[in-house]
Amino acid sequence: MRVLVVGSGGREHALCWAISGSPMLTKLYCAPGNPGISSVAQRVPIGAMDIPALVAFARANQIGLVVPGPEGPLVAGLTDAMEAAGIACCGPNAAAAALEGSKTFTKEVADAAGVPTAKWERFDSAVAARAFVQMRGAPIVIKADGLAAGKGVVVAATEDEAIAAIDAFMERATLGAAGASVVIEECLVGEELSFFALCDGTTAISLGSAQDHKRVGEGDTGPNTGGMGAYSPPPAATPELEADIMARFIQPTLDEMARRGKPFRGILFAGLMLTEDGPKLIEYNVRFGDPECQCLLLRLRSDLLAALVAACDGELKNFDLRWYDRAVVAVVMAADGYPVKPKMYTPIGLLDRAAAVPGVRILHAGTDIRDGELVSNGGRVLTVCATGATITEARDSAYAAVDLIHWPDGFCRRDIAWRAFA
Ligand code: AMP
Ligand code: GLY
Repeated sequence: MRVLVVGSGGREHALCWAISGSPMLTKLYCAPGNPGISSVAQRVPIGAMDIPALVAFARANQIGLVVPGPEGPLVAGLTDAMEAAGIACCGPNAAAAALEGSKTFTKEVADAAGVPTAKWERFDSAVAARAFVQMRGAPIVIKADGLAAGKGVVVAATEDEAIAAIDAFMERATLGAAGASVVIEECLVGEELSFFALCDGTTAISLGSAQDHKRVGEGDTGPNTGGMGAYSPPPAATPELEADIMARFIQPTLDEMARRGKPFRGILFAGLMLTEDGPKLIEYNVRFGDPECQCLLLRLRSDLLAALVAACDGELKNFDLRWYDRAVVAVVMAADGYPVKPKMYTPIGLLDRAAAVPGVRILHAGTDIRDGELVSNGGRVLTVCATGATITEARDSAYAAVDLIHWPDGFCRRDIAWRAFA
Protein backbone atom coordinates (compact mmCIF):
# COMPACT_ATOMS: atom_id res chain seq x y z
CA MET A 1 0.00 0.00 0.00
CA ARG A 2 1.17 3.50 -0.87
CA VAL A 3 0.38 5.98 1.91
CA LEU A 4 0.28 9.79 2.12
CA VAL A 5 0.47 11.43 5.56
CA VAL A 6 -0.68 15.06 5.63
CA GLY A 7 0.89 17.57 8.03
CA SER A 8 4.29 18.70 9.33
CA GLY A 9 4.41 18.48 13.11
CA GLY A 10 5.70 16.11 15.77
CA ARG A 11 2.41 14.22 15.53
CA GLU A 12 2.95 13.61 11.82
CA HIS A 13 6.56 12.55 12.43
CA ALA A 14 5.22 9.96 14.91
CA LEU A 15 2.55 8.83 12.42
CA CYS A 16 5.15 8.45 9.66
CA TRP A 17 7.51 6.59 11.96
CA ALA A 18 4.78 4.15 13.06
CA ILE A 19 3.45 3.59 9.54
CA SER A 20 6.97 3.15 8.12
CA GLY A 21 7.31 -0.07 10.13
CA SER A 22 4.22 -1.68 8.61
CA PRO A 23 4.67 -4.80 6.48
CA MET A 24 1.70 -3.54 4.40
CA LEU A 25 3.60 -0.42 3.29
CA THR A 26 5.29 -0.13 -0.10
CA LYS A 27 5.88 3.64 -0.22
CA LEU A 28 5.34 6.46 2.28
CA TYR A 29 4.93 10.16 1.43
CA CYS A 30 4.35 13.12 3.71
CA ALA A 31 3.01 16.51 2.61
CA PRO A 32 4.67 18.81 3.48
CA GLY A 33 6.57 16.98 6.27
CA ASN A 34 9.70 18.29 7.99
CA PRO A 35 13.42 17.43 7.96
CA GLY A 36 12.99 14.71 10.61
CA ILE A 37 10.23 13.06 8.63
CA SER A 38 12.48 12.76 5.57
CA SER A 39 14.32 9.86 7.25
CA VAL A 40 11.14 7.72 7.12
CA ALA A 41 9.02 9.22 4.31
CA GLN A 42 9.47 11.07 1.04
CA ARG A 43 8.48 14.70 1.49
CA VAL A 44 6.06 16.28 -0.97
CA PRO A 45 6.06 20.10 -1.22
CA ILE A 46 2.29 20.57 -0.85
CA GLY A 47 0.73 22.40 2.08
CA ALA A 48 -1.70 20.55 4.36
CA MET A 49 -4.55 22.91 3.38
CA ASP A 50 -4.03 22.67 -0.40
CA ILE A 51 -6.74 20.06 -0.94
CA PRO A 52 -6.84 20.15 -4.78
CA ALA A 53 -3.06 19.64 -4.98
CA LEU A 54 -3.18 16.82 -2.40
CA VAL A 55 -5.89 15.03 -4.40
CA ALA A 56 -3.97 15.48 -7.65
CA PHE A 57 -0.81 14.09 -6.03
CA ALA A 58 -2.67 11.13 -4.50
CA ARG A 59 -4.23 10.30 -7.88
CA ALA A 60 -1.00 10.59 -9.81
CA ASN A 61 0.89 8.43 -7.29
CA GLN A 62 -1.69 5.63 -6.73
CA ILE A 63 -2.06 6.44 -3.04
CA GLY A 64 -4.09 3.72 -1.30
CA LEU A 65 -4.60 5.54 1.99
CA VAL A 66 -4.37 9.18 3.11
CA VAL A 67 -3.67 9.81 6.81
CA PRO A 68 -4.41 13.39 7.84
CA GLY A 69 -2.70 14.70 10.99
CA PRO A 70 -4.28 18.13 11.69
CA GLU A 71 -7.95 19.16 11.87
CA GLY A 72 -7.79 22.04 9.37
CA PRO A 73 -7.91 19.95 6.18
CA LEU A 74 -10.56 17.61 7.66
CA VAL A 75 -12.90 20.48 8.53
CA ALA A 76 -12.22 21.92 5.06
CA GLY A 77 -13.26 18.67 3.34
CA LEU A 78 -10.05 16.72 2.60
CA THR A 79 -11.79 13.37 3.16
CA ASP A 80 -14.75 14.35 0.96
CA ALA A 81 -12.38 15.37 -1.85
CA MET A 82 -10.26 12.21 -1.56
CA GLU A 83 -13.31 9.93 -1.47
CA ALA A 84 -14.77 11.69 -4.51
CA ALA A 85 -11.53 10.72 -6.27
CA GLY A 86 -11.89 7.12 -5.04
CA ILE A 87 -9.07 7.38 -2.49
CA ALA A 88 -9.50 6.18 1.12
CA CYS A 89 -8.78 8.81 3.77
CA CYS A 90 -8.64 7.90 7.45
CA GLY A 91 -10.43 10.91 8.91
CA PRO A 92 -13.99 12.22 9.16
CA ASN A 93 -15.61 14.02 6.25
CA ALA A 94 -16.43 17.72 6.68
CA ALA A 95 -19.91 17.01 8.05
CA ALA A 96 -18.53 14.74 10.80
CA ALA A 97 -15.47 16.96 11.42
CA ALA A 98 -17.91 19.59 12.69
CA LEU A 99 -17.42 17.78 16.02
CA GLU A 100 -14.23 19.86 16.21
CA GLY A 101 -15.12 22.65 13.78
CA SER A 102 -18.19 23.88 15.65
CA LYS A 103 -18.53 24.05 19.44
CA THR A 104 -22.32 24.37 19.11
CA PHE A 105 -22.54 21.19 17.05
CA THR A 106 -20.43 19.30 19.63
CA LYS A 107 -22.66 20.44 22.48
CA GLU A 108 -25.84 19.52 20.58
CA VAL A 109 -24.50 16.05 19.80
CA ALA A 110 -23.31 15.56 23.39
CA ASP A 111 -26.70 16.55 24.80
CA ALA A 112 -28.60 14.35 22.31
CA ALA A 113 -26.31 11.40 23.08
CA GLY A 114 -26.56 11.86 26.84
CA VAL A 115 -22.81 12.52 27.12
CA PRO A 116 -21.96 14.35 30.37
CA THR A 117 -20.67 17.85 29.57
CA ALA A 118 -20.65 21.38 30.99
CA LYS A 119 -23.99 23.25 30.84
CA TRP A 120 -23.95 25.72 27.96
CA GLU A 121 -25.75 28.39 25.92
CA ARG A 122 -24.99 29.74 22.47
CA PHE A 123 -25.08 33.46 21.62
CA ASP A 124 -25.05 35.28 18.29
CA SER A 125 -25.35 38.69 19.93
CA ALA A 126 -22.73 40.31 22.17
CA VAL A 127 -25.43 42.18 24.10
CA ALA A 128 -27.17 38.95 25.08
CA ALA A 129 -23.84 37.23 25.82
CA ARG A 130 -22.77 40.03 28.19
CA ALA A 131 -26.14 39.96 29.93
CA PHE A 132 -25.82 36.19 30.43
CA VAL A 133 -22.35 36.57 31.98
CA GLN A 134 -23.65 39.28 34.33
CA MET A 135 -26.50 36.98 35.36
CA ARG A 136 -24.32 33.87 35.88
CA GLY A 137 -21.14 35.46 37.27
CA ALA A 138 -17.60 34.09 37.20
CA PRO A 139 -15.81 31.75 36.83
CA ILE A 140 -17.25 31.08 33.41
CA VAL A 141 -15.91 29.85 30.07
CA ILE A 142 -16.25 31.76 26.77
CA LYS A 143 -15.65 29.80 23.55
CA ALA A 144 -15.60 31.08 19.99
CA ASP A 145 -17.84 28.74 18.01
CA GLY A 146 -15.45 28.08 15.11
CA LEU A 147 -11.87 26.81 14.69
CA ALA A 148 -9.38 29.18 16.30
CA ALA A 149 -6.10 27.24 16.58
CA GLY A 150 -6.30 27.03 20.37
CA LYS A 151 -7.00 30.77 20.81
CA GLY A 152 -10.79 30.52 21.00
CA VAL A 153 -11.29 29.52 24.64
CA VAL A 154 -11.10 31.87 27.61
CA VAL A 155 -11.54 30.40 31.09
CA ALA A 156 -12.53 33.64 32.79
CA ALA A 157 -11.88 33.97 36.52
CA THR A 158 -13.76 37.29 36.67
CA GLU A 159 -16.77 38.83 34.92
CA ASP A 160 -14.50 41.52 33.45
CA GLU A 161 -12.33 38.89 31.79
CA ALA A 162 -15.41 37.17 30.38
CA ILE A 163 -16.80 40.43 29.00
CA ALA A 164 -13.40 41.31 27.51
CA ALA A 165 -13.41 37.95 25.68
CA ILE A 166 -16.93 38.54 24.34
CA ASP A 167 -15.93 42.01 23.14
CA ALA A 168 -12.79 40.67 21.46
CA PHE A 169 -14.46 37.71 19.72
CA MET A 170 -17.82 39.27 18.81
CA GLU A 171 -17.31 43.06 18.54
CA ARG A 172 -13.70 43.32 17.39
CA ALA A 173 -13.69 40.00 15.48
CA THR A 174 -10.16 39.15 16.68
CA LEU A 175 -10.70 35.58 15.44
CA GLY A 176 -12.58 36.57 12.28
CA ALA A 177 -15.72 34.58 11.49
CA ALA A 178 -14.79 31.89 14.07
CA GLY A 179 -15.82 34.26 16.87
CA ALA A 180 -19.06 35.60 15.36
CA SER A 181 -21.00 33.41 17.77
CA VAL A 182 -19.90 32.07 21.13
CA VAL A 183 -20.72 29.22 23.45
CA ILE A 184 -20.74 30.18 27.13
CA GLU A 185 -20.19 27.31 29.53
CA GLU A 186 -20.13 26.38 33.14
CA CYS A 187 -16.53 26.15 34.43
CA LEU A 188 -15.50 22.57 35.21
CA VAL A 189 -12.95 21.83 37.91
CA GLY A 190 -10.64 18.82 38.01
CA GLU A 191 -7.81 17.00 36.32
CA GLU A 192 -7.82 16.93 32.49
CA LEU A 193 -7.44 13.76 30.42
CA SER A 194 -7.05 13.22 26.66
CA PHE A 195 -8.75 10.01 25.54
CA PHE A 196 -8.51 8.61 22.00
CA ALA A 197 -10.60 6.13 20.03
CA LEU A 198 -10.30 4.82 16.49
CA CYS A 199 -13.74 4.75 14.83
CA ASP A 200 -15.14 3.15 11.68
CA GLY A 201 -18.56 4.82 11.65
CA THR A 202 -20.26 2.32 13.95
CA THR A 203 -17.55 0.66 16.04
CA ALA A 204 -14.86 2.30 18.16
CA ILE A 205 -11.73 0.80 19.70
CA SER A 206 -9.72 2.46 22.43
CA LEU A 207 -6.36 4.03 21.60
CA GLY A 208 -5.82 4.82 25.26
CA SER A 209 -5.18 8.04 27.08
CA ALA A 210 -2.53 10.60 27.85
CA GLN A 211 -2.20 13.79 29.82
CA ASP A 212 -1.11 16.97 28.09
CA HIS A 213 0.40 20.14 29.59
CA LYS A 214 -1.28 23.04 27.78
CA ARG A 215 0.16 26.06 29.60
CA VAL A 216 3.58 27.34 28.58
CA GLY A 217 5.00 27.63 32.11
CA GLU A 218 5.95 25.22 34.87
CA GLY A 219 3.22 24.58 37.43
CA ASP A 220 0.65 25.06 34.63
CA THR A 221 1.05 28.84 34.45
CA GLY A 222 1.11 31.36 31.60
CA PRO A 223 -0.72 31.33 28.27
CA ASN A 224 -2.17 28.26 26.58
CA THR A 225 -0.12 26.51 23.91
CA GLY A 226 -0.69 23.59 21.55
CA GLY A 227 0.83 21.38 24.26
CA MET A 228 4.23 21.51 26.01
CA GLY A 229 4.51 17.83 26.81
CA ALA A 230 2.51 14.71 27.55
CA TYR A 231 2.81 11.31 29.14
CA SER A 232 1.04 7.99 28.94
CA PRO A 233 -0.45 6.04 30.59
CA PRO A 234 -1.63 8.53 33.23
CA PRO A 235 -2.34 6.95 36.65
CA ALA A 236 -5.79 8.60 36.61
CA ALA A 237 -6.80 6.55 33.54
CA THR A 238 -7.63 3.23 35.16
CA PRO A 239 -8.99 0.42 32.96
CA GLU A 240 -12.40 1.01 34.62
CA LEU A 241 -12.35 4.71 33.72
CA GLU A 242 -11.34 3.99 30.13
CA ALA A 243 -14.13 1.40 29.79
CA ASP A 244 -16.58 3.95 31.22
CA ILE A 245 -15.43 6.60 28.71
CA MET A 246 -15.90 4.14 25.83
CA ALA A 247 -19.39 3.19 27.07
CA ARG A 248 -20.76 6.60 28.12
CA PHE A 249 -18.95 9.03 25.81
CA ILE A 250 -17.48 7.46 22.67
CA GLN A 251 -20.08 4.85 21.69
CA PRO A 252 -23.15 7.09 22.31
CA THR A 253 -21.46 9.83 20.26
CA LEU A 254 -20.78 7.43 17.38
CA ASP A 255 -24.40 6.23 17.54
CA GLU A 256 -25.73 9.80 17.54
CA MET A 257 -23.48 10.80 14.60
CA ALA A 258 -24.70 7.77 12.61
CA ARG A 259 -28.30 8.62 13.48
CA ARG A 260 -27.73 12.11 12.06
CA GLY A 261 -26.41 10.62 8.83
CA LYS A 262 -22.87 11.80 9.68
CA PRO A 263 -21.06 8.58 10.63
CA PHE A 264 -17.68 9.32 12.23
CA ARG A 265 -14.61 7.61 10.80
CA GLY A 266 -11.11 8.30 12.04
CA ILE A 267 -9.63 9.35 15.35
CA LEU A 268 -11.97 10.76 17.96
CA PHE A 269 -10.16 12.67 20.71
CA ALA A 270 -12.22 13.39 23.81
CA GLY A 271 -10.86 16.18 26.00
CA LEU A 272 -12.26 15.35 29.43
CA MET A 273 -12.33 16.92 32.86
CA LEU A 274 -12.28 14.41 35.72
CA THR A 275 -14.62 16.25 38.08
CA GLU A 276 -15.94 15.31 41.50
CA ASP A 277 -19.10 14.14 39.70
CA GLY A 278 -17.18 11.92 37.29
CA PRO A 279 -15.70 12.60 33.85
CA LYS A 280 -17.24 15.37 31.75
CA LEU A 281 -16.59 16.24 28.12
CA ILE A 282 -14.73 19.51 27.53
CA GLU A 283 -14.47 19.12 23.77
CA TYR A 284 -14.07 16.69 20.92
CA ASN A 285 -11.25 16.85 18.41
CA VAL A 286 -11.32 14.81 15.22
CA ARG A 287 -7.64 13.82 15.09
CA PHE A 288 -4.75 12.78 17.29
CA GLY A 289 -3.48 15.30 19.83
CA ASP A 290 0.03 16.67 19.54
CA PRO A 291 2.07 15.68 21.62
CA GLU A 292 -0.30 12.96 22.93
CA CYS A 293 0.03 11.06 19.62
CA GLN A 294 3.79 10.73 20.06
CA CYS A 295 3.24 9.05 23.46
CA LEU A 296 0.52 6.68 22.28
CA LEU A 297 2.30 5.53 19.14
CA LEU A 298 5.48 4.73 21.06
CA ARG A 299 3.37 2.41 23.22
CA LEU A 300 1.54 0.76 20.31
CA ARG A 301 2.70 -2.75 19.51
CA SER A 302 0.24 -3.55 16.70
CA ASP A 303 0.51 -2.37 13.11
CA LEU A 304 -0.98 1.14 13.00
CA LEU A 305 -1.49 1.01 9.23
CA ALA A 306 -3.58 -2.17 9.47
CA ALA A 307 -5.76 -0.49 12.11
CA LEU A 308 -6.26 2.65 10.00
CA VAL A 309 -7.22 0.56 6.97
CA ALA A 310 -9.70 -1.43 9.06
CA ALA A 311 -11.26 1.84 10.26
CA CYS A 312 -11.68 3.06 6.66
CA ASP A 313 -13.15 -0.30 5.64
CA GLY A 314 -15.69 -0.32 8.50
CA GLU A 315 -14.07 -3.46 9.92
CA LEU A 316 -13.05 -2.57 13.45
CA LYS A 317 -15.64 -4.89 14.96
CA ASN A 318 -13.25 -7.81 15.30
CA PHE A 319 -10.08 -5.75 15.50
CA ASP A 320 -7.83 -5.66 18.52
CA LEU A 321 -4.80 -3.55 19.34
CA ARG A 322 -1.85 -4.65 21.44
CA TRP A 323 0.25 -2.30 23.54
CA TYR A 324 3.68 -2.41 25.14
CA ASP A 325 3.54 -2.42 28.90
CA ARG A 326 5.74 0.66 29.19
CA ALA A 327 5.46 4.36 29.90
CA VAL A 328 6.26 7.23 27.56
CA VAL A 329 7.08 10.84 28.39
CA ALA A 330 7.21 13.46 25.63
CA VAL A 331 8.88 16.81 26.31
CA VAL A 332 8.27 19.57 23.78
CA MET A 333 11.17 21.90 23.05
CA ALA A 334 9.86 25.26 21.88
CA ALA A 335 11.53 28.36 20.48
CA ASP A 336 12.11 31.25 22.89
CA GLY A 337 9.12 33.59 22.68
CA TYR A 338 6.56 30.81 22.04
CA PRO A 339 3.55 30.99 22.04
CA VAL A 340 3.50 34.76 21.45
CA LYS A 341 6.37 35.36 19.02
CA PRO A 342 8.77 32.43 18.61
CA LYS A 343 12.31 33.31 17.59
CA MET A 344 12.82 31.84 14.13
CA TYR A 345 15.70 30.09 12.33
CA THR A 346 18.03 29.59 15.29
CA PRO A 347 20.57 26.74 15.00
CA ILE A 348 20.03 23.42 16.81
CA GLY A 349 22.94 21.03 17.40
CA LEU A 350 23.98 17.69 18.90
CA LEU A 351 20.66 15.94 18.23
CA ASP A 352 22.44 12.67 17.38
CA ARG A 353 24.12 12.59 20.77
CA ALA A 354 20.72 13.13 22.49
CA ALA A 355 18.98 10.53 20.34
CA ALA A 356 21.55 7.95 21.47
CA VAL A 357 20.23 7.99 25.06
CA PRO A 358 18.61 4.55 25.53
CA GLY A 359 14.85 4.58 24.96
CA VAL A 360 14.87 8.06 23.42
CA ARG A 361 13.27 9.06 20.12
CA ILE A 362 13.43 12.65 18.93
CA LEU A 363 10.59 13.74 16.70
CA HIS A 364 10.76 16.93 14.66
CA ALA A 365 8.01 19.55 14.48
CA GLY A 366 9.00 23.10 13.49
CA THR A 367 12.45 22.47 12.03
CA ASP A 368 14.10 23.33 8.74
CA ILE A 369 17.48 22.93 7.07
CA ARG A 370 19.19 26.20 6.09
CA ASP A 371 22.70 26.26 4.60
CA GLY A 372 23.05 22.63 5.58
CA GLU A 373 22.27 23.33 9.22
CA LEU A 374 19.25 22.30 11.31
CA VAL A 375 17.33 25.40 12.48
CA SER A 376 14.06 26.15 14.24
CA ASN A 377 11.11 26.98 12.02
CA GLY A 378 8.10 27.51 14.25
CA GLY A 379 6.93 27.57 17.87
CA ARG A 380 7.02 23.94 18.88
CA VAL A 381 10.24 22.63 17.39
CA LEU A 382 11.09 19.16 18.76
CA THR A 383 9.32 16.47 20.78
CA VAL A 384 11.86 14.58 22.84
CA CYS A 385 10.21 11.26 23.71
CA ALA A 386 11.46 8.49 25.96
CA THR A 387 10.10 5.11 26.91
CA GLY A 388 10.73 3.44 30.26
CA ALA A 389 9.49 0.71 32.56
CA THR A 390 7.97 3.47 34.70
CA ILE A 391 7.01 7.09 34.16
CA THR A 392 9.96 8.12 36.36
CA GLU A 393 12.39 6.20 34.16
CA ALA A 394 10.87 7.61 30.97
CA ARG A 395 10.94 11.15 32.33
CA ASP A 396 14.57 10.87 33.45
CA SER A 397 15.64 9.60 30.02
CA ALA A 398 13.69 12.33 28.21
CA TYR A 399 15.34 15.09 30.26
CA ALA A 400 18.78 13.45 29.94
CA ALA A 401 18.33 13.75 26.17
CA VAL A 402 17.01 17.33 26.40
CA ASP A 403 20.14 18.29 28.35
CA LEU A 404 22.39 16.96 25.59
CA ILE A 405 20.76 19.05 22.86
CA HIS A 406 22.58 22.27 22.05
CA TRP A 407 19.93 24.89 21.39
CA PRO A 408 20.50 28.16 23.29
CA ASP A 409 17.36 29.74 21.79
CA GLY A 410 14.92 27.02 22.87
CA PHE A 411 13.25 26.03 26.12
CA CYS A 412 11.07 23.32 27.63
CA ARG A 413 9.00 22.76 30.76
CA ARG A 414 10.90 20.81 33.41
CA ASP A 415 7.80 19.39 35.10
CA ILE A 416 6.24 17.21 32.39
CA ALA A 417 4.30 14.28 33.96
CA TRP A 418 4.15 16.03 37.35
CA ARG A 419 0.66 14.70 38.03
CA ALA A 420 2.02 11.15 38.03
CA PHE A 421 4.11 12.08 41.07
CA ALA A 422 1.64 14.37 42.85
P1 AMP B 1 -9.68 24.05 23.85
O1 AMP B 1 -9.00 25.20 23.16
O2 AMP B 1 -11.10 23.87 23.44
O3 AMP B 1 -8.80 22.84 23.83
O4 AMP B 1 -9.78 24.43 25.39
C1 AMP B 1 -8.63 24.88 26.00
C2 AMP B 1 -8.67 24.58 27.46
O5 AMP B 1 -9.67 25.35 28.11
C3 AMP B 1 -9.02 23.16 27.85
O6 AMP B 1 -7.97 22.28 27.74
C4 AMP B 1 -9.44 23.37 29.30
O7 AMP B 1 -8.29 23.47 30.10
C5 AMP B 1 -10.11 24.70 29.27
N1 AMP B 1 -11.59 24.56 29.26
C6 AMP B 1 -12.40 24.47 28.18
N2 AMP B 1 -13.68 24.35 28.56
C7 AMP B 1 -13.70 24.37 29.92
C8 AMP B 1 -14.73 24.29 30.90
N3 AMP B 1 -16.02 24.18 30.59
N4 AMP B 1 -14.35 24.36 32.21
C9 AMP B 1 -13.05 24.49 32.55
N5 AMP B 1 -12.04 24.55 31.67
C10 AMP B 1 -12.35 24.50 30.36
N1 GLY C 1 -2.40 18.61 22.63
C1 GLY C 1 -3.74 18.99 22.41
C2 GLY C 1 -4.16 19.04 21.02
O1 GLY C 1 -3.51 18.52 20.14
O2 GLY C 1 -5.22 19.60 20.75
